[in-house]
Amino acid sequence: MIRIAHISDLHVLSRTVAQWRRIVFNKRLTGYANLVLHRGRVHRRDYLITVLDAAVAHADHLVVTGDITNLALEHEYEEAVALLDRAARQTEVTVVPGNHDIYLYATHRERRFPHHFDRFIQSDLPRLARDLPAGRFPCVKLRRGVAIIALSSGVPRPPFINAGYLGHAQLAAFEAVLTHPEVQRRTPIVLVHHPPVDTRSRLVQLRDGLVDAAELQKAMAQLTRGVVLFGHLHIRVRCGLRTDSATLDVIGASGAALDHPDRSVRAGFNLYEIEEDGRLVSVKAHVVDPMLASSLQVTDIVEGPCA
Ligand SMILES: [Fe+2]
Ligand SMILES: [Fe+2]
Repeated sequence: MIRIAHISDLHVLSRTVAQWRRIVFNKRLTGYANLVLHRGRVHRRDYLITVLDAAVAHADHLVVTGDITNLALEHEYEEAVALLDRAARQTEVTVVPGNHDIYLYATHRERRFPHHFDRFIQSDLPRLARDLPAGRFPCVKLRRGVAIIALSSGVPRPPFINAGYLGHAQLAAFEAVLTHPEVQRRTPIVLVHHPPVDTRSRLVQLRDGLVDAAELQKAMAQLTRGVVLFGHLHIRVRCGLRTDSATLDVIGASGAALDHPDRSVRAGFNLYEIEEDGRLVSVKAHVVDPMLASSLQVTDIVEGPCA
């Protein structure tokens, strides 16, 4: 049995006055407004620490589906890496970038994400990875009955656009990964920040979704089993994705530091148990108890449209 804990959207914050000058003079202004109006109001660092500590205590592997930082500031990268290094002392950690981690064209160009997070994206099949500005993806980790496959959908966008994109090169590499014998004899666990299944209008998808979700689905059409994990929407939800011969589990995680009355949104982690033969036998959420921030309640994950 392997136990995988899934967290997402940590949005590690930096609100130091020293950053103000940079914030007001560039695109980060929109992100900062977002933070002040929405995210800052509900972001609880104590929740984040509770969630991280509990997740590593429960899991053999911690996967983080992006938006690890809030504005991709160096400060935030450093703090996020420190948190994940602490987690990695107890369990293995794998990450993918979110749109907030690749916030500006300069962040992308200067490869700040792989600079900081490289240690968490070391692939067992490095020759099948593509060299992207967000790092070398797909990153594959072969562990007992599972093949964890991390994809990067984080790309810089103009203000108010949060959409993700995998791109042809990465998708072709992903298809090659899925045909590798070491992957084929395991259950693929795909990590991607943006929702791989989206019922919203095409316009909304182009603004906030995974632009090439259809191509991703096509790449997985031959799969007879598998799980796709995502974040971005800050909601804990479970749905299915039909392939040619099976239905894959698609599961979203909420924001790992969010306070919210709705327990599908409130901070927590998802825990998946997968047997040696690759069967997903348990899916549970561990959600922060608002009455006692240091404890978590175990619940099922509500089924519904993933996006
Ligand atoms: Fe997010
Ligand atoms: Fe996001």
